[in-house]
Amino acid sequence: MMENNQAIGIFDSGLGGLTVVKELLKALPNESIVYFGDTARVPYGNKSKKTVCKFSVENADFLIKHEVKIIIVACNTSCSLSLNVLKKKYKVPVIGVIEPAVRKAVERSRGLRVGVIGTRSTIKSNVYNRALKKINKKVKIFSKSCPLFVPLIEENWINDDITLNIAGRYLSDLKKREIDTLILACTHYPLLMRTIQKIMGRRVELINSAEEVAGQVKEHLELSGRLREAKQKGRCLFYVSDEPAQFVKIGGKFLGRKMSRVRKV
Ligand code: DGL
Repeated sequence: MMENNQAIGIFDSGLGGLTVVKELLKALPNESIVYFGDTARVPYGNKSKKTVCKFSVENADFLIKHEVKIIIVACNTSCSLSLNVLKKKYKVPVIGVIEPAVRKAVERSRGLRVGVIGTRSTIKSNVYNRALKKINKKVKIFSKSCPLFVPLIEENWINDDITLNIAGRYLSDLKKREIDTLILACTHYPLLMRTIQKIMGRRVELINSAEEVAGQVKEHLELSGRLREAKQKGRCLFYVSDEPAQFVKIGGKFLGRKMSRVRKV
């Protein structure tokens, strides 16, 4: 029997998925969360489908051992390359970040000119394009991989001129294409929101998949009657596959608060 008080499981290639945890804590403050960050094998963004699928299954197996009631695949690269495999393999619902983001993008786009930025593997997979076209065939899609964004953010050069310059170069094509909506198709990119908005201008709406996925998980738990029932607040457990020091240090930025209870597995 599925227990409502079981935790929400969430995994990412590293610490970027904490942007999703941040939104989950806002939307569902009572829930317990088990987070796994594969810090020993990050980045996934330039790896093959076979490798990312293998890692993703191992990560999900780890969460299943913790008896989670739902699995959230926070990593866009994992979602792009392995979501279907995970959905077929597990009995618990598996929720990815792509569908909630594309739904919102199509809903908000005034002229149906949508940009997508993400890692190389995410952009190469074309999964966002297919998901957008499935909702509306008329949507025009302009994609760009921005492989330097993840290391810049992990280096904590978020408000640095170098990052602004690099972002300007990556985004110049999308600017010329006059997109009106831009999907941030990577766990890390919400941290560059200000920089990206500055370059793209106010008229371009940025879609933060972290916010959208938290909304979808809430809706799912409400509709399936699986919200946590216990009166006291749930707890957050964080697991990583390598030394936790860096995760704790930078993770606080992603999460927007101090991190505690990080364990290496
Ligand atoms: N989590 C990855 C994503 O959202 C970014 C980091 C990586 O390349 O592993 O695509």
